[in-house]
Amino acid sequence: MKKKVLLMGASGSGKTSMRSLIFSNNPASMTQRLGATIDVEQNHVRFLGDLILNLWDCGGQDAFMDSYLSTQQATIFSHVGVLIYVFEVESRSLARDLEYYAESLAALRKYSPNAAVFLLVHKMDLVRQPRAVMLEKRASELRQASGDSEITVFGTSIYDESLYKAWSQIVHTLIPNASVLTRHLDKLAMACSATEVILFERTTFLVIATSSNSSSSTPSNTPTPPSMPIHSSPSPPSSTSPTTLSSFGTHTSRASILPQQDDGDPHKLDPTRYERTSELIKAFKQTCTRTREEFHSLEMELADFTAVLDELTKNTYVLIVVHDNTIETAALRLNIRLARKKFE
Ligand code: GTP
Repeated sequence: MKKKVLLMGASGSGKTSMRSLIFSNNPASMTQRLGATIDVEQNHVRFLGDLILNLWDCGGQDAFMDSYLSTQQATIFSHVGVLIYVFEVESRSLARDLEYYAESLAALRKYSPNAAVFLLVHKMDLVRQPRAVMLEKRASELRQASGDSEITVFGTSIYDESLYKAWSQIVHTLIPNASVLTRHLDKLAMACSATEVILFERTTFLVIATSSNSSSSTPSNTPTPPSMPIHSSPSPPSSTSPTTLSSFGTHTSRASILPQQDDGDPHKLDPTRYERTSELIKAFKQTCTRTREEFHSLEMELADFTAVLDELTKNTYVLIVVHDNTIETAALRLNIRLARKKFE
């Protein structure tokens, strides 16, 4: 199943940067070297077995935009599954950005009336006033420009987990059997007495689905203001294979899959834990690659929780978090093995 994803927005708004971070695992610092996209760059990303994302990164210079909206209109806007339109939060040409957006939306409605629309208010890291206030201001302007079209707005930045969160939620809407996945994850969580079970896509480590019987469930559509950047660099793994979490433990404590202790509620889970965990695991995987180790799985046994991350299918990893130290990691691995055929 192929889903066409249109990535649009003004030149320099950050479209190619986000593509490079999410799909090529490049660091944010590398995006400064990216040149302007000429016309449309198309990519196919195999995502979850049958699901292929056909990503159209549309260069945002005015000449290209004018062409998309005139001679190329039918080509660009037909058969679209999702439009992701990127706005620079502090754009100096907001009025013109909104005009192009309104025209693009009209063309989308004409050629792909059922396409979902996600608007990213990007580069939130550059905002000096309270971010939530700024995001709400932009979101209300965008809602106005969208008329009666249903839209979802996210505040994002390549320098923190907000971009990850937004893309995870967008991709989640593209998965045809997302509710079945969640149901299977719930069963797995129950079988393991887990606090939480999280399903990640293998290469991007985007969160595809989570079990819903924890305090936070499947990615919701509620945008959250971006939090401060986290800078994490896991220490190199030991030379033994497969990789174990002994060298990862100290770093993983920052991944906040742990209950938060500092506000006095030991059961409150950090809302950014999925994205931060993704980020840490991706960094760890890259470290493994640099040291010519192959990443297979992770295990962590600490005083108050146990976590196992293992391959579930060809295209996914599953992370099981248990707050019961009488449950052995071997039992969790066995349950993962037994659950595999349900997810294939
Ligand atoms: P075109 O290809 O011309 O349409 O531009 P684009 O939208 O693809 O922009 P691109 O990704 O090339 O990014 C332009 C610049 O924005 C680069 O220098 C990036 O480093 C920078 N940038 C991207 N995302 C962010 C962000 O979240 N915060 C900040 N501060 N800079 C960003």
